[in-house]
Amino acid sequence: MPGPQMTSNLMDEVRTGLLANPRRLPPALFYDAEGSALFERITELPEYYPTRTERDILERHAADMLQEAGTDLELVELGSGSSTKTHLLIHALLSRQPDGSYVPIDVSATALKHAKSALLEAFPRLEVRPIHADYLGGLASLNHGHARRLVIFLGSTIGNFDPAQATSFLRSVRAALQPGDALLIGMDLAKAPTILIPAYDDALGVTALFNLNVLARLNRDWGADFQLEGFHHVALWNAVESRMEMHLESQARQFVRVAALDLEIALSVGERIHTENSYKFRPGVGEAILHDAGWLLERTWTDEQKWFAVHLARC
Ligand SMILES: C[S@@+](CC[C@H](N)C(=O)[O-])C[C@H]1O[C@@H](n2cnc3c(N)ncnc32)[C@H](O)[C@@H]1O
Repeated sequence: MPGPQMTSNLMDEVRTGLLANPRRLPPALFYDAEGSALFERITELPEYYPTRTERDILERHAADMLQEAGTDLELVELGSGSSTKTHLLIHALLSRQPDGSYVPIDVSATALKHAKSALLEAFPRLEVRPIHADYLGGLASLNHGHARRLVIFLGSTIGNFDPAQATSFLRSVRAALQPGDALLIGMDLAKAPTILIPAYDDALGVTALFNLNVLARLNRDWGADFQLEGFHHVALWNAVESRMEMHLESQARQFVRVAALDLEIALSVGERIHTENSYKFRPGVGEAILHDAGWLLERTWTDEQKWFAVHLARC
């Protein structure tokens, strides 16, 4: 019954979160095989501007980004997912050196597997060495003494951390690297809620399925008995915190048991389980986080509407 990724840390987090007030679940639960596939569908939705905006920036500036990062680079990507946008960076890398290596790090084994086969087909000269681990565990397992590294962290995944966590996380990333290594990081910028909210609550309901998959996963892997039709996907803009939030709202008074945790909870009508934050960076905020984490910001690329920024910072 319990899934292979049920670590004691994750179990503690889920138990604490389900018993908290307000209730919450850790975003680590999103990305099993179903969740990764749903996320790929989200990236293709017309409402989900972040992927295509960041891709446009990479399409226009990939060569420049690599030029700025340095020569003889190894690419390491955190939370690489399908690695689709990374093809643009790899193409630029292999246009200027005869071969190269790419290390995608992700907690989703299926995403890594699919990404690797697509990469080897597109770039026969590329060495791909996937690491199935969390971000820092993956970085810690890299062997040192290699040429300069460019660590890539796209999709504004950094926005899933609150600013203090983001600073501490980026400090840990820096500590795992060598002086001269670089970081290329995508950050989604604050914009009108009329653009933000549909990006997290699309007309086809794919984001709702992605959110509900967290409960479906607890049912599949942990013997929980969440009735999915008893929950409603809620996406809201929290202007004070400058973040999009996703919640699952109970539509009835209901009791839920999570067998693997030997836990039973009672949810009231309208009660929410908070599943994700996506911080949207106001001017200067992302730059300040990088600075506070000890990174030296070298360059920033944005789109014409200033919806998204990609920063290059040095260790
Ligand atoms: C928002 S998606 C972004 C995917 C891709 N980088 C993009 O820009 O489209 C986040 C990715 O990070 C992975 N991920 C989430 N938490 C992680 C963690 N703690 N360690 C490693 N990977 C993680 C997920 O499996 C997923 O592929």
